[in-house]
Amino acid sequence: AVTRTFSIIKPDATRRNLTGAITKMLEDAGLRVVASKRIQMTKEQAEGFYAVHAERPFFNDLVSFMISGPVVVQVLEGEDAVKANRDVMGATNPADAAEGTIRKTFAESIEANSAHGSDSDENAAIEIAYFFKPEEIVG
Ligand code: CMP
Repeated sequence: AVTRTFSIIKPDATRRNLTGAITKMLEDAGLRVVASKRIQMTKEQAEGFYAVHAERPFFNDLVSFMISGPVVVQVLEGEDAVKANRDVMGATNPADAAEGTIRKTFAESIEANSAHGSDSDENAAIEIAYFFKPEEIVG
């Protein structure tokens, strides 16, 4: 089925001017950008977005990293969008990511890993609603 997922092009990638290159890989994977904006996340926004990781040892560093520069938040639409996006992103740790994936190609570390993608349809809906109003998404 055609579904939606949520993507973030992270600060390590915007810093290196990779917004277009990463978006091209998403599009080549069959995903369509139906909403997109470049934002500077606030600390509160980043903490709320990653609240599920609040007890993890890497939480504070992750929040600091995510507010260290602009990000591009996107809604992606396509056949089985969550899986299509995760396949083209590759493993969280670039050392484990397959050849040809976004993280293998661009990520600097497990933290500065260039891209985020929702891990389920349920979380995709929550994450999309966290950053976008319905009228900002044009399918
Ligand atoms: P993301 O998909 O955005 O979700 C949580 C993020 O935490 C993850 O990508 C990584 O960038 C980051 N992170 C930093 N350290 C770790 C770690 N040790 N294990 C998992 N995720 C980590």
